[in-house]
Amino acid sequence: MLKIAVLVSGGGTNLQAIMDAIEDGRISNAKIEVVISNNQNAYALKRAADRGIKNSCISPKDFESREAFNQELLSKINSYNVDLIVLAGFLVVIPPQMIAAYKNRIINIHPSLIPSFCGTGYYGLKVHEGALLRGVKVTGATVHFVDEGTDTGPILSQKTVEVKEGDTPEILQRRVMEEAEWEILPQAIDWIANGRVTVEDGKAIVKGSVG
Ligand code: GRF
Repeated sequence: MLKIAVLVSGGGTNLQAIMDAIEDGRISNAKIEVVISNNQNAYALKRAADRGIKNSCISPKDFESREAFNQELLSKINSYNVDLIVLAGFLVVIPPQMIAAYKNRIINIHPSLIPSFCGTGYYGLKVHEGALLRGVKVTGATVHFVDEGTDTGPILSQKTVEVKEGDTPEILQRRVMEEAEWEILPQAIDWIANGRVTVEDGKAIVKGSVG
Protein backbone atom coordinates (compact mmCIF):
# COMPACT_ATOMS: atom_id res chain seq x y z
CA MET A 1 0.00 0.00 0.00
CA LEU A 2 1.54 3.30 -1.18
CA LYS A 3 1.43 5.91 1.57
CA ILE A 4 0.96 9.44 0.27
CA ALA A 5 1.40 12.94 1.66
CA VAL A 6 -0.57 15.55 -0.28
CA LEU A 7 0.77 19.11 0.01
CA VAL A 8 -1.71 21.91 -0.66
CA SER A 9 -2.14 25.68 -0.35
CA GLY A 10 -5.63 26.46 -1.53
CA GLY A 11 -8.99 25.10 -2.56
CA GLY A 12 -7.92 21.49 -2.87
CA THR A 13 -9.94 20.38 -5.87
CA ASN A 14 -7.05 18.16 -6.96
CA LEU A 15 -6.93 16.69 -3.45
CA GLN A 16 -10.65 16.05 -3.78
CA ALA A 17 -10.09 14.29 -7.10
CA ILE A 18 -7.47 12.03 -5.47
CA MET A 19 -9.70 11.21 -2.49
CA ASP A 20 -12.64 10.43 -4.81
CA ALA A 21 -10.47 8.21 -7.01
CA ILE A 22 -9.23 6.24 -3.99
CA GLU A 23 -12.79 5.82 -2.80
CA ASP A 24 -14.18 4.62 -6.14
CA GLY A 25 -11.20 2.38 -6.98
CA ARG A 26 -9.64 4.34 -9.86
CA ILE A 27 -6.59 4.52 -7.59
CA SER A 28 -5.75 1.18 -6.01
CA ASN A 29 -3.05 0.20 -3.49
CA ALA A 30 -2.77 3.73 -2.14
CA LYS A 31 -3.77 5.70 0.92
CA ILE A 32 -3.46 9.38 1.82
CA GLU A 33 -1.52 9.35 5.07
CA VAL A 34 -1.57 13.11 5.64
CA VAL A 35 -2.51 16.41 4.02
CA ILE A 36 -0.16 19.30 4.76
CA SER A 37 -0.84 22.96 4.01
CA ASN A 38 1.29 26.07 4.38
CA ASN A 39 -1.90 28.07 4.81
CA GLN A 40 -4.19 27.56 7.80
CA ASN A 41 -7.19 28.84 5.83
CA ALA A 42 -6.79 26.46 2.91
CA TYR A 43 -10.16 24.85 2.16
CA ALA A 44 -8.18 21.73 1.30
CA LEU A 45 -7.62 21.16 5.04
CA LYS A 46 -11.37 21.02 5.58
CA ARG A 47 -11.78 18.58 2.70
CA ALA A 48 -9.21 16.30 4.37
CA ALA A 49 -10.80 16.63 7.81
CA ASP A 50 -14.25 15.83 6.35
CA ARG A 51 -12.84 12.53 5.08
CA GLY A 52 -11.16 11.78 8.39
CA ILE A 53 -7.69 12.23 6.92
CA LYS A 54 -4.89 13.55 9.15
CA ASN A 55 -4.11 17.14 8.28
CA SER A 56 -1.68 19.71 9.44
CA CYS A 57 -0.51 23.26 8.74
CA ILE A 58 3.06 24.46 8.69
CA SER A 59 3.61 28.07 7.68
CA PRO A 60 6.91 29.78 6.84
CA LYS A 61 5.55 32.80 8.72
CA ASP A 62 5.94 30.94 12.01
CA PHE A 63 9.68 30.42 11.54
CA GLU A 64 12.63 32.75 11.95
CA SER A 65 14.18 31.74 8.68
CA ARG A 66 13.32 29.83 5.52
CA GLU A 67 15.98 27.31 6.48
CA ALA A 68 14.27 26.58 9.82
CA PHE A 69 10.92 26.16 8.01
CA ASN A 70 12.48 23.86 5.42
CA GLN A 71 13.95 21.62 8.11
CA GLU A 72 10.69 21.41 10.00
CA LEU A 73 8.70 20.68 6.83
CA LEU A 74 11.07 17.85 5.98
CA SER A 75 11.03 16.34 9.45
CA LYS A 76 7.24 16.58 9.59
CA ILE A 77 6.92 14.72 6.30
CA ASN A 78 9.55 12.18 7.37
CA SER A 79 7.55 11.49 10.53
CA TYR A 80 4.65 10.14 8.44
CA ASN A 81 6.83 7.59 6.61
CA VAL A 82 5.31 8.28 3.22
CA ASP A 83 6.34 6.70 -0.07
CA LEU A 84 5.13 9.51 -2.31
CA ILE A 85 4.66 13.28 -1.95
CA VAL A 86 2.00 14.81 -4.19
CA LEU A 87 2.11 18.57 -4.74
CA ALA A 88 -1.48 19.53 -5.46
CA GLY A 89 -1.40 23.31 -5.75
CA PHE A 90 1.39 23.75 -3.15
CA LEU A 91 2.74 27.28 -3.56
CA VAL A 92 5.94 26.84 -1.56
CA VAL A 93 9.30 26.20 -3.24
CA ILE A 94 10.33 22.66 -2.33
CA PRO A 95 13.57 22.71 -0.33
CA PRO A 96 16.58 21.06 -1.99
CA GLN A 97 17.00 18.73 1.02
CA MET A 98 13.51 17.36 0.41
CA ILE A 99 14.12 16.87 -3.30
CA ALA A 100 17.30 14.94 -2.50
CA ALA A 101 15.62 12.83 0.21
CA TYR A 102 12.64 11.97 -2.01
CA LYS A 103 14.24 11.60 -5.44
CA ASN A 104 11.63 10.49 -7.98
CA ARG A 105 9.10 10.30 -5.14
CA ILE A 106 7.61 13.81 -5.46
CA ILE A 107 5.10 14.60 -8.20
CA ASN A 108 3.47 17.88 -9.18
CA ILE A 109 0.50 18.85 -11.32
CA HIS A 110 1.09 21.86 -13.57
CA PRO A 111 -1.76 23.46 -15.55
CA SER A 112 -0.08 23.65 -18.97
CA LEU A 113 1.63 21.38 -21.46
CA ILE A 114 5.23 21.56 -20.22
CA PRO A 115 7.57 23.00 -21.59
CA SER A 116 5.07 25.73 -22.48
CA PHE A 117 3.99 28.28 -19.87
CA CYS A 118 6.02 26.82 -17.02
CA GLY A 119 8.99 27.76 -14.87
CA THR A 120 9.47 30.69 -12.53
CA GLY A 121 6.50 33.05 -12.44
CA TYR A 122 4.06 30.65 -14.11
CA TYR A 123 1.61 29.66 -11.39
CA GLY A 124 -2.13 29.98 -10.89
CA LEU A 125 -3.92 32.21 -13.38
CA LYS A 126 -0.63 33.48 -14.82
CA VAL A 127 -0.25 30.19 -16.70
CA HIS A 128 -3.60 30.62 -18.44
CA GLU A 129 -3.02 34.33 -19.05
CA GLY A 130 0.20 33.36 -20.82
CA ALA A 131 -1.55 30.78 -22.97
CA LEU A 132 -4.31 33.23 -23.99
CA LEU A 133 -1.81 36.01 -24.69
CA ARG A 134 0.17 33.72 -27.00
CA GLY A 135 -2.98 32.57 -28.72
CA VAL A 136 -2.32 28.83 -28.45
CA LYS A 137 -5.17 26.65 -29.68
CA VAL A 138 -4.58 23.82 -27.24
CA THR A 139 -3.26 23.83 -23.71
CA GLY A 140 -3.58 21.18 -21.00
CA ALA A 141 -1.96 19.82 -17.88
CA THR A 142 1.18 17.90 -16.99
CA VAL A 143 2.07 15.58 -14.12
CA HIS A 144 5.82 15.48 -13.59
CA PHE A 145 8.38 14.37 -11.05
CA VAL A 146 9.97 17.21 -9.13
CA ASP A 147 13.68 17.82 -9.51
CA GLU A 148 15.93 20.75 -8.55
CA GLY A 149 14.55 23.01 -11.30
CA THR A 150 11.13 24.64 -11.65
CA ASP A 151 8.83 22.35 -13.66
CA THR A 152 11.85 20.59 -15.21
CA GLY A 153 11.51 17.03 -13.86
CA PRO A 154 10.61 13.90 -15.85
CA ILE A 155 7.13 14.09 -17.38
CA LEU A 156 4.75 11.32 -16.32
CA SER A 157 1.56 12.29 -18.05
CA GLN A 158 -0.01 15.05 -20.15
CA LYS A 159 -3.47 15.77 -21.47
CA THR A 160 -4.55 18.43 -23.97
CA VAL A 161 -7.48 20.80 -23.55
CA GLU A 162 -8.97 22.99 -26.26
CA VAL A 163 -8.74 26.78 -25.99
CA LYS A 164 -12.03 28.34 -27.07
CA GLU A 165 -12.97 31.74 -28.42
CA GLY A 166 -13.98 34.09 -25.63
CA ASP A 167 -12.01 32.22 -22.96
CA THR A 168 -10.87 34.23 -19.97
CA PRO A 169 -8.01 32.97 -17.78
CA GLU A 170 -10.61 31.89 -15.20
CA ILE A 171 -12.73 29.97 -17.72
CA LEU A 172 -9.67 28.28 -19.18
CA GLN A 173 -8.33 27.42 -15.72
CA ARG A 174 -11.59 25.69 -14.86
CA ARG A 175 -11.68 23.73 -18.15
CA VAL A 176 -8.06 22.58 -17.68
CA MET A 177 -8.89 21.36 -14.18
CA GLU A 178 -12.09 19.57 -15.18
CA GLU A 179 -10.86 18.00 -18.40
CA ALA A 180 -7.23 17.31 -17.52
CA GLU A 181 -5.92 17.85 -13.98
CA TRP A 182 -8.59 15.90 -12.09
CA GLU A 183 -8.11 12.98 -14.46
CA ILE A 184 -4.35 12.70 -14.97
CA LEU A 185 -3.23 13.32 -11.39
CA PRO A 186 -5.22 10.41 -9.89
CA GLN A 187 -4.24 8.24 -12.86
CA ALA A 188 -0.52 8.94 -12.36
CA ILE A 189 -0.83 8.07 -8.65
CA ASP A 190 -2.50 4.78 -9.58
CA TRP A 191 0.35 3.98 -11.98
CA ILE A 192 2.95 4.66 -9.26
CA ALA A 193 0.99 2.73 -6.62
CA ASN A 194 0.89 -0.28 -8.92
CA GLY A 195 4.58 -0.25 -9.77
CA ARG A 196 4.15 0.84 -13.37
CA VAL A 197 6.52 3.83 -13.38
CA THR A 198 10.29 3.94 -13.71
CA VAL A 199 12.64 6.81 -14.46
CA GLU A 200 15.46 6.19 -16.91
CA ASP A 201 17.82 8.80 -18.35
CA GLY A 202 15.64 11.61 -17.00
CA LYS A 203 12.49 10.25 -18.61
CA ALA A 204 9.52 8.62 -16.91
CA ILE A 205 8.44 5.35 -18.47
CA VAL A 206 4.98 3.97 -17.81
CA LYS A 207 4.65 0.23 -18.32
CA GLY A 208 1.71 -0.80 -20.41
CA SER A 209 0.87 2.68 -21.71
CA VAL A 210 0.94 3.84 -25.30
CA GLY A 211 3.20 6.75 -26.27
C1 GRF B 1 -4.18 23.77 -9.96
O1 GRF B 1 -4.46 24.55 -11.08
C2 GRF B 1 -2.85 23.09 -10.15
O2 GRF B 1 -2.56 22.79 -11.47
C3 GRF B 1 -1.89 24.13 -9.66
O3 GRF B 1 -2.55 24.73 -8.57
C4 GRF B 1 -3.96 24.59 -8.71
C5 GRF B 1 -4.49 23.94 -7.47
O4 GRF B 1 -5.87 23.95 -7.36
N1 GRF B 1 -0.61 23.53 -9.40
P1 GRF B 1 -6.60 23.11 -6.22
O5 GRF B 1 -6.12 23.66 -4.88
O6 GRF B 1 -6.26 21.66 -6.40
O7 GRF B 1 -8.06 23.37 -6.41
